[in-house]
Amino acid sequence: MILAKYPYFYLETSKLGYLFSVLPTKKLEHMYFGKRLVDHRYESMHLKLTAGAGSTIEYENEGHKTLLDMMTLEFSEIGKGDFRLSPIEIKMPDQSFVSDFVYDSFEIVKGTVSSKKLPTAHKDENVQSLVVKLKDKKFSIEIKLIYTVFEKANIITRRMILVNNQDEPIVIRKVMSMMFDLPESDYDLITFDGGWIKEAHKHKRPLSYGTYINDSTTGASSNRHNPGIILAKKGTHEDYGVCIGVNLMYSGNHYEAVQISNHGLMRVMTGINPHCFEWTLKKEESFETPEAVLSYSDQGFNDLSHNFHDFVNHHIVPRQFSKEVRPIVLNSWEAFYFDFNRRKLLHLAKEAKRLGVELFVLDDGWFGKRKDDTQGLGDYKVNQRKLRGGLDYLSKKVHELGMSFGLWFEPEMVNPKSELFKKHPEWAVSIDQRSPSLGRNQLVLDLCKPDVRKYIIEQISIVLDSTKIDYIKWDMNRHMTDMFSSALYEQGRFFHSYILGLYEILFELRKKYPDIMIESCSSGGNRFDLGMLYFSPQIWTSDNTDPIERLKIQEGFSYLYPQSTLSAHVSLAPHSQTIRRTPLSTRFNVASFGILGYELNLKYVSPAEKKEMIKQIEFYKEHRELMQFGEFNRFNKKDDDHHQWQVSLNDDHIVGYFQTKYHSSPQLDVLHIKHTKPNQMYHIESLQQTMEIRQFGHLISHALPIKLHPDGWIMSKINLRKQLENATESYEMSGQAMISGIKLKQQFSGTYYNKETRLLGDFGSQLYVIKKTNSEVQDA
Ligand code: GLA
Repeated sequence: MILAKYPYFYLETSKLGYLFSVLPTKKLEHMYFGKRLVDHRYESMHLKLTAGAGSTIEYENEGHKTLLDMMTLEFSEIGKGDFRLSPIEIKMPDQSFVSDFVYDSFEIVKGTVSSKKLPTAHKDENVQSLVVKLKDKKFSIEIKLIYTVFEKANIITRRMILVNNQDEPIVIRKVMSMMFDLPESDYDLITFDGGWIKEAHKHKRPLSYGTYINDSTTGASSNRHNPGIILAKKGTHEDYGVCIGVNLMYSGNHYEAVQISNHGLMRVMTGINPHCFEWTLKKEESFETPEAVLSYSDQGFNDLSHNFHDFVNHHIVPRQFSKEVRPIVLNSWEAFYFDFNRRKLLHLAKEAKRLGVELFVLDDGWFGKRKDDTQGLGDYKVNQRKLRGGLDYLSKKVHELGMSFGLWFEPEMVNPKSELFKKHPEWAVSIDQRSPSLGRNQLVLDLCKPDVRKYIIEQISIVLDSTKIDYIKWDMNRHMTDMFSSALYEQGRFFHSYILGLYEILFELRKKYPDIMIESCSSGGNRFDLGMLYFSPQIWTSDNTDPIERLKIQEGFSYLYPQSTLSAHVSLAPHSQTIRRTPLSTRFNVASFGILGYELNLKYVSPAEKKEMIKQIEFYKEHRELMQFGEFNRFNKKDDDHHQWQVSLNDDHIVGYFQTKYHSSPQLDVLHIKHTKPNQMYHIESLQQTMEIRQFGHLISHALPIKLHPDGWIMSKINLRKQLENATESYEMSGQAMISGIKLKQQFSGTYYNKETRLLGDFGSQLYVIKKTNSEVQDA
């Protein structure tokens, strides 16, 4: 709901409220961002600057005065007395950087104000937008502040459109999507940072005087710093406390700044990174910023995440996929890398089908002369030597097996060793007379050029039209350097024009092939953002599939993005990046809290493990909706070696208990459950899982009636066929009793082993299924 009672503008969702007003000076005061207000008399909610302060500048307009530097503002600029970070930096027609935007008018619109060039969130019947127009006092230049209220998802989005109606051009050096100021600064800033194979690790830092920047300069939203940030009042935890979340629907260089001023005010902004940015606006041209996404909770991080999750599922991902359960994939990459042929692929596909896999994805290496990563990118003609009969034959065979078929592309790139580069060296991003730097032996294609965009759409269309392809993995494997495009008259446009070019291609392909699922990827989660999710409902979360590393990665992403977007595969142990040997059960248990897939050569999986995989896949299929679309909850950690996750849907729940390190003589474990109904009876059952016998080495002789050499022939044969069963648990309890936790069976602790002992060790984990029974609590 939007309430506009001049001078007040109040925006409200089912849980949050957002208030700003027009001051007598016609500047905008930010007045409130918090829980939905119960009273609509706002007069007392203004900031009271009754005494002023030394060293401040008085801003005056039409006889009214204010101290901008001490105000909580909704918008600001350079050169009129606010010395904090500015959301805009514009070289005005008089060549100064001084602008003076004041309130002009407003309009309320049903639905959203969408953009033709940038992805913006989808509307539903409960969505409304407010457009507030500001005008510069001297020049004919205007700014539209666009607010959209997503009632059910508890989200407010903001963006800006800058319009130059002046005869002379202006030069934009910085334009944020939004800014607001809060009157207090006792907040922690939480960011999600990392790099390749360590994406989205959560970092928390207390805020103090000064500025903190969370940004990317690599050309993509990057694995270094995700655009999503959280500001949390001190003491906030998963289920308690006040927090504000900010994200940006943008896949390029982003910039989030949080600044605490000397008066203890906190300024927050997000938008396109001003790094190397310069954009001239000629007469009647306009510039639109990407959409910033804001949410608030007074019930801790989980509640804030639920808002973001609902928003992504209902308003960001392509509509046709928003409620579609995602298929279980087998991806050929870690199975064969570049070394495959038709026979190997079909053999793997058949085996995968036997396990229950639904989608077979042929990853890198199927085209051109791509026998390794030094060549072939750009030449999307099938390599007939590897794939006799071409893609059509393979796709038909895979479909005959009863699976769908998916294919990998890296459309934005070219290898210097390729037919494409020979023909069009000028299509690769580089600067005349300088040799461009390579990343993974490849160069970036210049998406600022219309011909390049056309070529990419054509090439992909030729492949997609040649046979039945149900899924694309859209990869992008290097950062940008040597930024220059001969298609641009000013190079400060490069990074943003590239992203606009990418979006143009994706808009077109989505329109042409609405039913093809796109999974995006950038060496894993190097471009995990709301912009990409608008086109591709899921993203390859990380090249790291080690479940212990994935706990941190998936948990980090879970603050901002739902499980339905996190692609998660089971691979072989020991793991190819960490050399860590983890049980198959834990690899599955972690991956099942995302979009489950497999990425391994089944040749190296024992018959006993395959049996286990079949059961895991059956279990996942049975609970898939709950796993992918259920409400996701994290638990406050009792220490760094334990994680607990829960998903809930229609009062069915699955809880994952993960132990990354075993401690001798451990504490007794208590499993905590959230959101069950106190008067309802529930059945709790642990998922039956097995363990490899060889894991126990010589210790196994304690459990067997006969003595066998742990490395001997007999043991290795047994190991192929048989696994040890772990203790299972099964209880009936009321929701009320479960609130204080379910006391689990003891873990093995060096004394007697028996069938009632939980064997977790390092990297052990367990899933618990909690289903309501037909009965309510009986009075004794
Ligand atoms: C990137 C991706 C991997 C795989 C390879 C193929 O690293 O993240 O999943 O597709 O490229 O080259």
